[in-house]
Amino acid sequence: MRIVMIGAGYVGLVSGACFSEFGHEVICVEKDPARRRALQAGLVPIFEPGLESVIAANVRAGRLSFADDLSAVARADAVFIAVGTPARRGDGHADLSYVFAAAKEIARHLDGYTVVVTKSTVPVGTGSQVHDVIRAARPDADFDVASNPEFLREGSAIEDFRRPDRVVVGCDSERAREVMREIYRPLFINETPILFTGRQSAELIKYASNAFLAAKITFINEVADLCEKVGADVQEVARGVGLDKRIGPKFLHAGPGFGGSCFPKDTLALLKSAQDHGVGARIVESVVAVNDERKLAMAGRIAAAFGGSLQGKTVAVLGLTFKPNTDDMRDAPSLAIVPALRAMGARVRAFDPEGMEQARKLMAVETCADAYQAMDGADGLVLLTEWNEFRALNMVRVGNLLRRKLIIDLRNVYAPEQMRAYGFDYVSIGRIPVAAAAKSVPQAIAAE
Ligand SMILES: NC(=O)c1ccc[n+]([C@@H]2O[C@H](COP(=O)([O-])OP(=O)(O)OC[C@H]3O[C@@H](n4cnc5c(N)ncnc54)[C@H](O)[C@@H]3O)[C@@H](O)[C@H]2O)c1
Repeated sequence: MRIVMIGAGYVGLVSGACFSEFGHEVICVEKDPARRRALQAGLVPIFEPGLESVIAANVRAGRLSFADDLSAVARADAVFIAVGTPARRGDGHADLSYVFAAAKEIARHLDGYTVVVTKSTVPVGTGSQVHDVIRAARPDADFDVASNPEFLREGSAIEDFRRPDRVVVGCDSERAREVMREIYRPLFINETPILFTGRQSAELIKYASNAFLAAKITFINEVADLCEKVGADVQEVARGVGLDKRIGPKFLHAGPGFGGSCFPKDTLALLKSAQDHGVGARIVESVVAVNDERKLAMAGRIAAAFGGSLQGKTVAVLGLTFKPNTDDMRDAPSLAIVPALRAMGARVRAFDPEGMEQARKLMAVETCADAYQAMDGADGLVLLTEWNEFRALNMVRVGNLLRRKLIIDLRNVYAPEQMRAYGFDYVSIGRIPVAAAAKSVPQAIAAE
């Protein structure tokens, strides 16, 4: 199959590269000149584990290339729209201007039967609007519009694309279904279920899935707050709850509130859609409000651990991205927490393995060469994103570098008793804070 992918961001680039790996001929069209030039020069402009080698192999094999215009649409069997749909400033609706601009450009180049596929996350009804935009510009064109929402997670996007739980395709035409079946055929060998639905259902499946997952996170965050008051441990509670097969263990990790490129904007957009249609969406409304409050409350929680005031204190922050294994900073909790710490008088010294360049564009933050440099002489350490390299820090060294042996672990990465044994005051989420042990560090640990 010949595929054009419009937008070479996290979704377009991963999907385009993986489709080419399936054996299809893929041209990714990217209008950001810096991003496109990087791709054409063999560089990958985003951090996503494994992506670079998939791109390199398929470019070498002649199946994957990059362009700045849509002329390839004329020869394509399917054109995927994978442009951004950020929250619109002011009202929170999904901003569809990039989607409609792409639709207009596609219309100009259509030649022969083509399936136009929205892979971007778009509100219910957008597929019909895309259809109308193209039809108005090209009354003669032979095309169908399908919805094929993407469920990959940044950080494990390649694996998710190769082995998804399901592929959802919404369209009403058998001709379009046939093209989509052919595109995803390599996945059927892995027995991936492909779910054909109406276009509106497919559009809603994506929002409903994200809102459900966001609700799960928000739920366990509230349970964590209760745990702290009653002397329970949210890790134990989440495990006990998650072992119930009807619930499942995923997305039950208490933390500083969800962020990222999808959940915040998608919950908001679902809420707006419901409001537009006069339907109550009180659960989603609460999820959005509770999560926003939580991110802001985290700075107060940190200040409390420092004794109530951050004036003149130096805080070492580990992790800035919204989750590990990505450089994506969109709506990361750090964007709420770091400025709040600074506003309370703290000096913040931060380290993130991949996100510092993006972070510096979005907020004032002092960045360091590595985790240990960030904590050198700091009055306490805050773990904000659970990158693997922070899990195995040398805690003796950490203790020696920090002026006060204080760790605030907003991801529950460390074991409270072990931190106590190392002599740290240790504050985490949904677990009873532990004060440093009076006794000395055990022999085995001291020998590290
Ligand atoms: N990032 C994720 O994890 C994820 C997961 C599932 C779904 N989605 C959805 O996929 C969509 C894309 O998300 P993303 O994170 O890849 O966004 P992104 O901002 O990383 O990438 C979008 C790219 O499209 C390019 N673009 C915009 N208009 C264009 C045009 N007319 N022609 C060519 N290029 C154009 C932009 O320059 C940008 O590089 C969004 O709707 C998002 O909600 C994202």
